[in-house]
Amino acid sequence: MTATQGKLAGKVAVVTGGASGSGAAICREFVLQGARVAIADRNQEAAVRLATELAELGEARAFAVDITDSTAVNALAAEVRAAFGHHADILVNNAGVRIVKPVLEHTDDDWHKMISINLTGHFFCTRAFAPAMVDTGWGRVINIASIASFVGRPDRAAYCAAKSGALGLTRGTAIDLRHRGVTVNAIAPGSIATPLNAEAKNDTDVDWGAETLVGRWGEGRDIALAAVYLASDDASYVNGTTLTVDGGWVSAKARDGEIASHA
Ligand SMILES: NC(=O)c1ccc[n+]([C@@H]2O[C@H](COP(=O)([O-])OP(=O)(O)OC[C@H]3O[C@@H](n4cnc5c(N)ncnc54)[C@H](O)[C@@H]3O)[C@@H](O)[C@H]2O)c1
Repeated sequence: MTATQGKLAGKVAVVTGGASGSGAAICREFVLQGARVAIADRNQEAAVRLATELAELGEARAFAVDITDSTAVNALAAEVRAAFGHHADILVNNAGVRIVKPVLEHTDDDWHKMISINLTGHFFCTRAFAPAMVDTGWGRVINIASIASFVGRPDRAAYCAAKSGALGLTRGTAIDLRHRGVTVNAIAPGSIATPLNAEAKNDTDVDWGAETLVGRWGEGRDIALAAVYLASDDASYVNGTTLTVDGGWVSAKARDGEIASHA
């Protein structure tokens, strides 16, 4: 497929946290669908590496940014526009981190880090990138939330709070940008095999994949294909909502053994 073909042909997309895991998979699928992609990550080395790798498939450029720095985020919007000769039509707020420890052991820094990266950074990016979408009457904002947006998870209280907030941000922004040709949606991933989850994935005692209705861990590409859909014209009537991509994990909640006893 060339840049003139594909569901995202002619679009410029920025993917925060695009250098690793699901973000990297989103960058790859977007390029395959004809988008020109800005890989925006605080890990510049990894972003440059991915941009080089994707060069044979299409156009991808690396940008260094810390999404918790609003000045840097505003500068990023200008840099992307200058580099591609066009503003970003699509913003994927994907950068995220997770601290795993009991809530009463969360330090001030732990709390602020969870909220600033997983929630405030998404707001900063939306505020920087959405005005150009509104001006031109076409745009897509996709916030990467989590199954932790819906259910409590042990030792992740601040992460759950931030990810629940991401759904509120999604709905509130969708309303404010209504009738402007811009849609704002969220994707809630389940257990995806990325560096964020390396420890759990390598745990031989527990298999998170087996807890899903599909019976496997998710891959970054599962998230990327959902992002392609929401970013495309196919999803023009989908707004302010959340697409859960978790292999049915949230829907499968049942008491221990309950599902097995009905198998
Ligand atoms: N992996 C999962 O199972 C899972 C489940 C639910 C939600 N998520 C969410 O999916 C998103 C992607 O996670 P992943 O698993 O691919 O993680 P990952 O650790 O592989 O990648 C995260 C990327 O974000 C970048 N990043 C972190 N802080 C940043 C900042 N301040 N500014 C710019 N870039 C920053 C990192 O450098 C990294 O490249 C996150 O929002 C995460 O919370 C992941």
